[in-house]
Amino acid sequence: MSPDANVSASPAVSRRLGQFVYPHRWGAVLTVLAYVGAAATEPMIPKLIGYAFGEGFAKDAFPLWMIPVVLIGLYLIRGVFGFAGQYLFNWTVTRSVMDFRAALVNALLRLDAQIYTRMQPGTAVSKVVNDPQQILQLVGDVGMSILRDGLPAIAMLAYLFYLNWQLTLLSLIVTPLMAFIMKKVNQRMRLMASRSYDSQLLLVNKVDDLARAWRVVRQFGAEAYERQRFADVAHEVRRNNLKTATAAALAQPLSQLVAAVGLSFIICVTLWQARAEGTGVQAFAEFVTALLLLTSRLRHLSDLAAPLTRAAVIAKGCFELMDAPKEVDGGTVELPAHAHGELVMQEVRLTYPGAAQPALDGLSLAFPAGRTTALVGASGAGKSSIIHLLLGFGRPDAGRILLDGIDTETLTRLSLRRQFAVVSQDIVLFDDSVANNIAYAQPRDEARLEAALRAAHLWDFVQTLPEGVETAVGANGSKLSGGQRQRLAIARALYKDAPIWIFDEATSALDTESERAVQQALAAWSGRKTLIVIAHRLSTIRDADAIHVLGAGQLLESGTHAELIARDGAYAAMVRAQAGEA
Ligand SMILES: Nc1ncnc2c1ncn2[C@@H]1O[C@H](COP(=O)(O)OP(=O)(O)OP(=O)(O)O)[C@@H](O)[C@H]1O
Ligand SMILES: [Mg+2]
Repeated sequence: MSPDANVSASPAVSRRLGQFVYPHRWGAVLTVLAYVGAAATEPMIPKLIGYAFGEGFAKDAFPLWMIPVVLIGLYLIRGVFGFAGQYLFNWTVTRSVMDFRAALVNALLRLDAQIYTRMQPGTAVSKVVNDPQQILQLVGDVGMSILRDGLPAIAMLAYLFYLNWQLTLLSLIVTPLMAFIMKKVNQRMRLMASRSYDSQLLLVNKVDDLARAWRVVRQFGAEAYERQRFADVAHEVRRNNLKTATAAALAQPLSQLVAAVGLSFIICVTLWQARAEGTGVQAFAEFVTALLLLTSRLRHLSDLAAPLTRAAVIAKGCFELMDAPKEVDGGTVELPAHAHGELVMQEVRLTYPGAAQPALDGLSLAFPAGRTTALVGASGAGKSSIIHLLLGFGRPDAGRILLDGIDTETLTRLSLRRQFAVVSQDIVLFDDSVANNIAYAQPRDEARLEAALRAAHLWDFVQTLPEGVETAVGANGSKLSGGQRQRLAIARALYKDAPIWIFDEATSALDTESERAVQQALAAWSGRKTLIVIAHRLSTIRDADAIHVLGAGQLLESGTHAELIARDGAYAAMVRAQAGEA
C-alpha cells in the first residue's frame, strides 16, 4: 500500500464513515453546539488576566470577592457545556459504531462462498469486533480534540484579531511553516501506520491458528517451532510499531520547536510595539496570555493526523470487507417450502479457481425423490463438491442442476436451501446450548427436539448432562466427543425436516451401535425423503437404492450393491479392500 493511495482514498473513506454517522446527525449537531458554548467562554480568561494585571493592582479597583465568583462561574458554565458535549458525542459515536458493525456482519453473512476459503477466521473477528471499536476510539479522540481544543482555538484566534490584528497576522506566519513540517511527518506516519496494521493482522491470524490448532501443535511437539514462527511475526510487528511511534514522537517536538521560534519572535515584536506606543501592561498581558492559550490548544491539535490516518487505514480494511463480492442471488423462482425433492445433474463441470484439474468433469447424476442414493469414491473424487453445488454455494462452469425439473440457477438461494438438511463433513456447531444447536434458527418444539435427539441416538447422553438440552456445548462443540458432535449435527438435520437430506461422511465417527440406530431412524423416513449419503465405510451404504462410484470428478459406475459386486469393477475392488482390512 503506497502512502499516496491512502491519501487519495481518505476522502472516500471519511465519506463512507460519515454515512454511518448521518442517521444520528442530531447528536453530532448538539455536540458541536455544546462545545461552541464551551469555546465561547475561552476568551474570557485572557480578558480576566489582563484585567487583573491592569486594574487589579490599583487600590480602588473591583472588590476581591468578584474574582472567585467570576472565575468559578466561568468554569461552571464551561463544565456544564463540556459534560453535555462529551455525553452527546459518545451517544452519537456509539450508535454509529453499532450500525457500522451491523453493516460488517451483514456483509459477512452475504459474502461469496469463495471468499471464505481464502479468509482466515481471525480476520473476520478482528474486522467486525475490534476494528469498529478501534476506529471509534481513534476518531472519537480526534473529534473530541477538535471540539475541545480546536473550537476554543478558533475563538481565541478571533479574539486575538480583535485585540491586535497586525500582530496576530504576524504570528500566523508560523502556521504555514508548521503545516509544511507536519505534512512531511504525516506522510511517513501514514505509511508506517498501514504497515503496522497489516503486520498486526498477521499476528492475529497466527494466534488464532495457535489457539484453534493447539491439539495439532502439542501432538507434533511443535511448541518450539510455533514459538519461533510467532517470534518472527511479533518481531515484524514490533519493528513496524516502533517506526510508527518514532514518526509520531517526532511530530510533537518538531511542531513545538517551530512554535517556540515563532513565539519568541512574536513576544519581541509585542514588547517593541508596546514600548513604542506606550500601551500598558494590561494589553500586553492580555495578548500574550491569549497567544499562549492558543498555542497550547494548537499543540494538542498537532497530534490529530496520526490517529486519523490509522483510523482511515483500518476503515479501509473494513470497507474492503463490505465491498467484497456478495453471493449472487439472481434467481426469482420460489419453490414451495416442501419440494418433491428430485435432483438431476446434467453434464456438470466445476473447476475451483487456481486448480489445474476440474473437481467435477462433465458429471451427470440423478437423485430420485424419496430414494436413497449413495456416493462413494476415493478422497478428492469430488463428492463434497457435488454437495457444494447442490446447495448453490458455487456455480457450475458448465451444465445444469435441476430440482423438480427447475434449473436451480433460477431459484432464489433461500428457497433452494430450504429444501436441504445437511450434515457436512466438517461439523460446525454454535457456542450455544444443545437445544439451540438442534433447533437452529427455527421455532422450538420440545416433542420434535426429543424425536431428533432419539433418532440421532443422543437422547440418553443428553439426559446425563447437568442442564439437559440447555447445556452449552462450548465453542464449536469443544465439550463433546467427535461422535457426539456428529450426532448433534445429525439431530440438527433431522429436526429441520427438509425434503432432501444429505449426509456427507456423517457417521464416520460413530460406533457401530450408534450408526445402526441412526440408520434405522433414517429408514423410517424411507420413501418420504430424498437421501444422499456419502460414506467411505461401504457397509453404511449397502442398502442404498443406487450407488454411484466417482473417480476424479467423473462417474465410474452405478448400480445397487448387488449389481456392482456382480460387475466386479471399482466398487467390488473397494469392498474387497475394506473386507481385507476388517
Ligand atoms: N475450496 C476449494 N478450492 C480449491 N479446490 C478445492 C476446494 N474444495 C475442494 N477442492 C478440490 O476439489 C477436489 C474434490 O474435492 P472434494 O472435497 O469434492 O472431494 P471429496 O470426494 O469430498 O473427498 P473426501 O472423500 O476426502 O471428502 C479435490 O481435488 C480438492 O482438492
Ligand atoms: Mg468430502
